Amino acid sequence: RSFLILNGPNLNLLGTRQPEVYGPTTLADIEAMCTARADDLGVSIVFRQTNHEGELVDALHAARGVHAGVILNAGAYTHTSVALMDAISSIMLPVIELHLSNIHAREEFRTKSYIAPVAIGQICGFGAAGYTLAMDALLTYLGDMS
Ligand code: DQA
Repeated sequence: RSFLILNGPNLNLLGTRQPEVYGPTTLADIEAMCTARADDLGVSIVFRQTNHEGELVDALHAARGVHAGVILNAGAYTHTSVALMDAISSIMLPVIELHLSNIHAREEFRTKSYIAPVAIGQICGFGAAGYTLAMDALLTYLGDMS
């Protein structure tokens, strides 16, 4: 069983990007945390980042038949992308919306998510730990844990 962990724009800069908001952890650190958690959970992961909206759409389409579910931190596209919303609606895979920061406690424009209505749920505000929480949540959703 495989999970796709998909990261959108500017998340390649984690560690140096607004550390007061997003913390000191790099995306490579997060990938290592997810790989370790995957070993514990007995799942495999593909961990990706792209700054390009269309590549996120392509990656969601390509997840069909390959991955059991998707953990998506769409970055700022969360707040703008009807294309991502439509892609999620189209792939028939469970998607968990993830954010490092609590998007509901920041600027007003971040409280709007095009992902939320088509995701199975949202995890935000727990920093890097949210990634492994999302992996646990996805496995629970898929019925492997009680
Ligand atoms: C983010 C929150 C978004 O509002 C922001 O544009 C990001 C990161 C987060 O992980 O907290 O790029 O998705």
